[in-house]
Amino acid sequence: MGSVTVLCAVRGAAETDVVLALGGPGSGATVTRRCGDVAELLAAAAAGAGAVALVSGDLPGLDREAVGRLRAAGVRVVALGDDVAPAARLHALGVDAVVERYDEALLLAAVRDAAPGAAAPDRLVLGQGGQDVDEALAGQDGIGLEDVVADDTTPRRGRVVAVWGPVGAPGRTTTALELAAALGGLSRGRRRHGRARREAAATATEHALVVDADTYGASVAARLGLLDDAPGLAAAARAAAHGSLDLPTLARHSPVVGGRLRVLTGITRAARWPELPASAVEVVLERARELADWTVVDCGPLLEADELLMYDTHAPQRNGATLAALQAADVVVVVGAADPVGIQRLVRGLEDLREVPVPVAGERVVVANRVRASAVGSRPEAAVRDALARYAGVEDVHLVPDDAAGLDAALLAGRTLAEEAPGSPVTAAFEALAERVRATVAAAVPAEA
Ligand SMILES: Nc1ncnc2c1ncn2[C@@H]1O[C@H](COP(=O)(O)OP(=O)(O)OP(=O)(O)O)[C@@H](O)[C@H]1O
Ligand SMILES: [Mg+2]
Repeated sequence: MGSVTVLCAVRGAAETDVVLALGGPGSGATVTRRCGDVAELLAAAAAGAGAVALVSGDLPGLDREAVGRLRAAGVRVVALGDDVAPAARLHALGVDAVVERYDEALLLAAVRDAAPGAAAPDRLVLGQGGQDVDEALAGQDGIGLEDVVADDTTPRRGRVVAVWGPVGAPGRTTTALELAAALGGLSRGRRRHGRARREAAATATEHALVVDADTYGASVAARLGLLDDAPGLAAAARAAAHGSLDLPTLARHSPVVGGRLRVLTGITRAARWPELPASAVEVVLERARELADWTVVDCGPLLEADELLMYDTHAPQRNGATLAALQAADVVVVVGAADPVGIQRLVRGLEDLREVPVPVAGERVVVANRVRASAVGSRPEAAVRDALARYAGVEDVHLVPDDAAGLDAALLAGRTLAEEAPGSPVTAAFEALAERVRATVAAAVPAEA
């Protein structure tokens, strides 16, 4: 193998040592560019000037987005840490390798190992290098340990459910919230007997987190009457971008709103969408798997990525948060309104979903919401089932009836329908949806293993 080409963006006194070490005989490496800042480094990477970027951990502007762009340009990233830039934070940025403090031999080895073509470097997988869950949460104000920590001490590996649906307010937010409530066992609802009760007991300690990732019309906070308008998701995304989103930080930004349900509220103004870049939301959702057994994401209605932006620059994408959720999801719930316009949009939406610019591996569960005779004629259930089978090939649509009075009352009270009207047929339908989501995930496990 020839010598490894290195883009060097090391600050301060160490720079001279590093350049001398890499330039020494037998180092196996050559410095092809010395870059003063992240912008210069990104330009050099885009120009194909080097195979490995060697960066100071405290380089201003070195965040997850920047590391992602370097890697997207085919450059492997080796970070030089110190007390200010500890290894855990650097790994969280997504770098390929970290040299914890300057040491010539370690540095040369890391650069050689990171080079493309070398054996894969030991890349620390996010979430595995963090603290123990108990330890991380101990001493946190206002958060009972029993409230967030699993019964055993192994870190949680929760599931992510993305709730998507086309424009026209088909009920994405309602579905996300009620599904999360049902998965978190919030419903004080129907009395269960026998097997159903035993099964409920087995899942009784599950925690759910609902994430508002709708960059067009965030509404979970308003829906629950949360007055504090600090967008939890934007704050968590900011921390993620800087590599500092640990479990306590995520827990702090996602208050408990009742029972075992947490909420990560969305951006208060649609214009703030650039605060939710996909690269950061991806990390938030990954971390959320440790905080909650079920993370349910309320997505925005649009799916397209701006192709010009995709290929020419790495500007944030308006639908990035939604695409990140779809990509992360174990299950994708697709919601449509059960009226003639809504069904048509749902059929097209299912087609759009097949063409999204990110891989979506999660199993799809289709929901028709507000099923009622007044919109589709007598025998509304059969009409909706037939239409979806005929036009979208969906044979197993999940039907949710209409209960305007119940949902209005829940909205007025700022509570979930599960709490407000446990006897509503809509609550029952979302509980059944939760069972279906559980079953879908359970069925997917053997294939994964
Ligand atoms: N099954 C239902 N029965 C009666 N009303 C419902 C039902 N589902 C949702 N609604 C009502 O429909 C309205 C829109 O629902 P929701 O806010 O969940 O839709 P959305 O898809 O999130 O809309 P947006 O595009 O604004 O994000 C709300 O007032 C909600 O209470
Ligand atoms: Mg909504």
